[in-house]
Amino acid sequence: MGRALFGLALTVLAAACSDSVGKGAAAGAVPGAADSAHGAASSVTFSEAAWKPKREADIPNDSLGASIKRGLYLLRFTPESLPKYATGGLRCVSCHQDDGLRVTSAPLAGSHARFPKYMPRSGTVIALADRVNYCFTRSLAGNAIPVSSREMIDFLAYFAFISKDVPVGTKIAGTDGLVSSPDTLAGDVARGAALYTSKQCVTCHLATGAGNGPIPPLWGPRSYSVGASMARLERAASFIKHNMPQTAPGSLAPQEAFDLSAFVNSHARPDSPGKESDWPTGGAPSDVPYDTKGHKAFHPPLLLPRQNPQGALVPKPPVISRASR
Ligand code: HEC
Ligand code: HEC
Repeated sequence: MGRALFGLALTVLAAACSDSVGKGAAAGAVPGAADSAHGAASSVTFSEAAWKPKREADIPNDSLGASIKRGLYLLRFTPESLPKYATGGLRCVSCHQDDGLRVTSAPLAGSHARFPKYMPRSGTVIALADRVNYCFTRSLAGNAIPVSSREMIDFLAYFAFISKDVPVGTKIAGTDGLVSSPDTLAGDVARGAALYTSKQCVTCHLATGAGNGPIPPLWGPRSYSVGASMARLERAASFIKHNMPQTAPGSLAPQEAFDLSAFVNSHARPDSPGKESDWPTGGAPSDVPYDTKGHKAFHPPLLLPRQNPQGALVPKPPVISRASR
């Protein structure tokens, strides 16, 4: 009886093996052909309307779940968790609001399915880990974290979790970062200064722009660097229009958002070492506040030196040299 069962198990195993070998070989020659031969449907159905990103309460109670949870908490408590890397006053959720799920504030849900991708600013195809480090070095004006660190894996585990079921390459709301706004509007710094008080920005972000605790700084040495997307007139106007004031998002007129953005971005902020090599093939958007190839700085603010200029650089992906291949 025992021997018969053992024999049966072996047969099944052998069948499974030859099946997968056969399938692998066929798939190598004609992708998809093996699937139809096995009668399995190969099309993926995805309905954005029905899709909801996973939330904290959905995190499984296992080892992967522990990593996902650490990633979420790094997003929320970045300077507390990694003070040598997040050296300023911003945390990831200062911009990626609602744990990276809010569609109008550069959502991170779906990011796992959008990378690797070509980034015109760096002029190269980058992996999601490098994109994380672009935010550490530019948006947080901090230092790049080691790509192979457990913390990086935790970030990526969280992004994969909140991207679950989004097929690779599918464009969903927020795929292109902040909602694009009419870039034909000009911002007026003086009008923005008046709005900063009348629209209550000052009550939270303070007259010095330095913020306080979980209220992030808008300018000065602890704010985002000049190399951040937020340092561009149109990008910050979009963020402000859709997300601020925190108590009444969506209440500002587009012109008011542009004026506030011009005011916020007229102040001194940390430099971004290496920024002159951005958009290496040209084509920088007109509101980039520093010189790049074929582009003159747009309303450049005063720049504050970085304490660790080397840490502010995200190396381009290295190529294995011919000799060591
Ligand atoms: C000052 C605001 C700000 C902060 C702080 C910030 N980011 Fe970002 N991040 C952005 C913006 C804006 C974009 C999208 C670029 C755009 O719209 O031009 C972005 C894009 C990203 C993307 C790419 C998303 C995609 O699918 O394309 C990732 C990943 C990311 N950020 C991770 C992080 C992490 C991790 C942190 C904290 C260490 C962080 N960000 C902090 C503003 C910020
Ligand atoms: C009730 C308090 C409050 C008010 C009022 C407020 N903010 Fe904010 N703001 C916040 C908080 C909190 C965040 C971080 C988001 C989060 O943690 O969810 C933030 C984030 C920001 C950011 C992105 C992060 C950074 O530091 O650059 C900008 C830009 C910003 N606010 C601009 C404004 C402007 C302009 C106004 C006025 C129209 C305004 N805020 C009004 C609380 C406020």
